[in-house]
Amino acid sequence: MLTVQTPAKINPVLEVLGKRPDGYHELALVFQAVGFYDQLTFEKKAAGVGLRVEGQAGLAADDSNLIVKAAKLFLREALKSADGVQITLHKKIPLAAGLGGGSSDAAATLRGLRWLFEVPVSEEKMHQMAAQLGSDVNFFLNGGTALGTGRGEIITPWKASVPLWVILVKPSEGLSTPAVYQSGKALMTTGDKVLEFQKVWSEGSPASIASRLFNGLEPAAFYLRPELEFIKKRLMTEGALGVLLSGSGPTLFALAAHEMEAKKIASEFEGEGLEVVVTQTVSTGVQKV
Ligand code: C5P
Repeated sequence: MLTVQTPAKINPVLEVLGKRPDGYHELALVFQAVGFYDQLTFEKKAAGVGLRVEGQAGLAADDSNLIVKAAKLFLREALKSADGVQITLHKKIPLAAGLGGGSSDAAATLRGLRWLFEVPVSEEKMHQMAAQLGSDVNFFLNGGTALGTGRGEIITPWKASVPLWVILVKPSEGLSTPAVYQSGKALMTTGDKVLEFQKVWSEGSPASIASRLFNGLEPAAFYLRPELEFIKKRLMTEGALGVLLSGSGPTLFALAAHEMEAKKIASEFEGEGLEVVVTQTVSTGVQKV
């Protein structure tokens, strides 16, 4: 039996560069892992893939689940034997939140099965399988901080910044990623925001990093869910250094100068039906626990 934890992510910069012939969007985005985790347990069994979900209503445990897809792909293409696996997911990262939870679980499944069966699968093969599962899965194979290009699946690791205090604020209702991309309200840019951001990232203060946050999907999410813009303004008023939509939303993340400030800001949003989590940036991805 093997247990792993796998983090959520935020995107301090997300640039939409254009629409591709395959229907996806060409992106330049920065991924950053945060210390808020799902946990997965793997146990060998005779054949097939079983999944049990704990801690989150409304998440199907059937073939539509990205964990099941990842496990079947690994067994078929990497293990190439009749062995099976029973997986238990302890879900904490909310669904359809812009925090990459489903992608993180898929990457954890690929890493977990490689550890469980102790098969020599190349990193190239791991990345090839990850890209088949979704645009964000490659990032979670190693986590930390990375630049994503292409549809987000081409990963270049970056050095860590100073540890940042992060407040995640998620309204109860999720937001569909395709709906955000297809709203016609995304802002297209040329890649210069990522370059500007890179200059402050590894040596800048939390305040200078916060001043260069950018997400081209934010106008689209604010158009679909106007209350998000209102929550962003309130987070700024309460003392956040910067606030941004995470991925395609609806989670907003705020950066705070230090832990006490982060907890103070979070406390202002208690009892409003929002999910509020105080966490920190981390330099890891999927890990055995
Ligand atoms: O790759 P993934 O399955 O995570 O993407 C989900 C949806 O998000 C896609 O079907 C597409 O509508 C949108 N998307 C996009 N461009 C990207 C990534 C995702 O249009 N680079």
